[in-house]
Amino acid sequence: MVAVESVNQILKQALAEISVCEDLSMLDGLRVRYLGKKGEITSLSRSLGSMEHEQRKAFGQAVNRAKGEVAQAVTARRQDLESVELNIRLAAESIDVTLPGRGQQRGGLHPVTYTLQRMTEIFSRLGYDVATGPEVEDDYYNFESLNFPPHHPARAMHDTFYFGDGRLLRTHTSPVQIREMKKRGAPIRIVSPGKVFRSDSDQTHTPMFHQLEGLLVGETVSMADLKGVLQVFVNAFFEKDLPMRFRPSYFPFTEPSAEVDITWDRGDGKAPGWLEILGCGMVHPNVLKACDIDSEKYVGYAFGMGAERMAMLRYGVSDLRQLFENDVRFLRQFH
Ligand code: FA5
Ligand code: MG
Repeated sequence: MVAVESVNQILKQALAEISVCEDLSMLDGLRVRYLGKKGEITSLSRSLGSMEHEQRKAFGQAVNRAKGEVAQAVTARRQDLESVELNIRLAAESIDVTLPGRGQQRGGLHPVTYTLQRMTEIFSRLGYDVATGPEVEDDYYNFESLNFPPHHPARAMHDTFYFGDGRLLRTHTSPVQIREMKKRGAPIRIVSPGKVFRSDSDQTHTPMFHQLEGLLVGETVSMADLKGVLQVFVNAFFEKDLPMRFRPSYFPFTEPSAEVDITWDRGDGKAPGWLEILGCGMVHPNVLKACDIDSEKYVGYAFGMGAERMAMLRYGVSDLRQLFENDVRFLRQFH
């Protein structure tokens, strides 16, 4: 009966260890230690062969009972441990469905996009058609047809980005004048908004910026008409009467030529100065000729306006480069 005693002894110890086991992998270790192929209880069966019949029966029963009890205890303990683990996970992953949602942020147009649209719309109301042209141009459309002969010094003013294969990034929207006059002839009245590119960067210059080109060709057009339409536009855009300054200037594709400035507070405490917003003039006869338009019969005016400069003035932005840093906190103010 000593043998049965020892089975019970092992059983007691196994049950005690299982009941305090706190960890699933340790629990599995206990299962192997007692019930595995070489486990403490499994090994007991090996001594059966050397036992008397009576003793063998009692001993066999004791071992089987011990196996069953230990297996049951392991299963029960495993279920306990698993449910504890599950509860911990559920608590950690719990979602409070009663919390208010984050909500969608409202987007808005970029201030330059909005400005260019507003500029275009004012001219649309004055009867101008809207035309667009490619941003990648060639020397003919960007310079030559606009009366810039090869090696003309005015080309140097444009800080052009060249691709090296004859193509370039347009430096102004004036090539659209040529494309539209070739397509539609005269009379014509268009504006053309778009991106232009120059290797240029400081407080009032960025390498990519936007212009609005304007062109009107007819039989009785004068510089006074040009001045009048620009004043109407500026007053409509800024919603007040703003003094403008016409400054004589030079462009190969207009004659005479002017640049227009309006007053600008730099935000540095000093008295407001002038900021150039556009170049303009009467279309040069050579440009009309390049488009097969009779320069004896037709005259026209043209202008090219900087959209970023208009946005700066309207919104009181003191450094143009801020418009392209894409800091949402800055851009959100304009929504
Ligand atoms: C021109 O680009 C001419 N094509 C304008 C023109 C059109 C004249 C039709 C006559 C007839 P200009 O280089 O001055 O001209 O540029 C026109 C305007 O674009 C400037 O007045 C300014 O408002 C804006 N601008 C020029 N360079 C930059 C720049 N780097 N960054 C932001 N705005 C600029
Ligand atoms: Mg200029």
